[in-house]
Amino acid sequence: MQQTLHRIFENDSRRLDIVPDKSISAVVTSPPYPMISMWDQIFSRMNPEIASLIERGKAERAFEVMHSELDSVWAEIRRVLIPGGFACINIGDAARTFGSKFQMYPNSERITHSFMRLGFEVLPKIIWRKTTNAPNKFMGSGMLPGGAYVTLEHEYILIFRNPGRRDFSNEQQKHLRYESAYFWEERNTWFSDVWVGLNGTDQKTSTTSRERNGAYPIQLPYRIINMFSIKGDTILDPFLGTGTTTMAAIASSRNSIGIEIDNEFATLARSRALSKWKELNEIVGGRIAKHLDYIENAVSRGKKLNYTNANLNMEVMTRQEKQLSFDWIKEVKQVEKDIVALYSSSENRDPRNGELQFGLFSKAGGNDGIKK
Ligand SMILES: C[S@@+](CC[C@H](N)C(=O)[O-])C[C@H]1O[C@@H](n2cnc3c(N)ncnc32)[C@H](O)[C@@H]1O
Repeated sequence: MQQTLHRIFENDSRRLDIVPDKSISAVVTSPPYPMISMWDQIFSRMNPEIASLIERGKAERAFEVMHSELDSVWAEIRRVLIPGGFACINIGDAARTFGSKFQMYPNSERITHSFMRLGFEVLPKIIWRKTTNAPNKFMGSGMLPGGAYVTLEHEYILIFRNPGRRDFSNEQQKHLRYESAYFWEERNTWFSDVWVGLNGTDQKTSTTSRERNGAYPIQLPYRIINMFSIKGDTILDPFLGTGTTTMAAIASSRNSIGIEIDNEFATLARSRALSKWKELNEIVGGRIAKHLDYIENAVSRGKKLNYTNANLNMEVMTRQEKQLSFDWIKEVKQVEKDIVALYSSSENRDPRNGELQFGLFSKAGGNDGIKK
């Protein structure tokens, strides 16, 4: 991939007129969470009835009206996705007390029903565990049976497929699909239904509109993008926030469109892409370094990896990994209103940090790796 394009719009995603029909390969997003108090205001701005329902303690009705606002966005996603395109929604359930009633509000189930009603295929979901040591994580009244509640330390990545099958048969698409492969050992972790070790990310924000940014860790959209799309595809995040999905798309050689209703966050997302892109090469470097460890470990256990990836000059486990290749970001710049990322090939970069270097990949197959 030589370059990718990233567009960020300040807009309300309940109407995505700026995004053409069937133009998006994958949606990766995390909406404001219904019934989590930090999002009450934003939902109330979308529909003032919500503020009044919360005020009057009409919790179940507020839950439903908040979701009906999100439903408009899900319907737009159905329109803009290509046949066989994926929608991956990060969401947590909410637990909240209204008056004397404590209850869980099942956001994940309500969203799943919406996607089903819209005709999406519901696929197995991922549960990711965010461990917290907070002393107040146990809710309720302690050690007496029937008085305490189970912790809410996980979130979901709901996965839906737009009906129809994606066609990869043309030569260019086929080639890009093989280039976009992931390592065998990554498949084993990424496609597991429970993800552990993915910690939450810094929630501090310099913006004035809310106290916490609500961002997800970059590994989350990065993995999802690599699991469900190929290089050169366009990824949409209709709830962009700090722009983590844009960053993950840049790191994965995908194009992206991000929509954010709050202009402070849209500005933040843009400036983050333009100023923090160098850190993204560490993600690719980390994957290569981990694969080198995997090879070393396998070899020490007497295991043989049967195939060679010529792009990386490394051994790989399966035939499907033979053409896998990485692109290193060499520049991210603003071109008129858009953001353009430029790449160079992986051939002579340090796997740990993407710096130019010689003698690279010498762990593979005894080759000194120096480009002649
Ligand atoms: C959970 S946050 C997303 C955080 C993001 N994943 C990140 O890593 O920074 C949800 C975002 O959706 C935005 N938002 C809420 N309603 C919206 C709407 N109708 N259209 C577009 N953006 C909206 C909020 O301002 C907020 O930034």
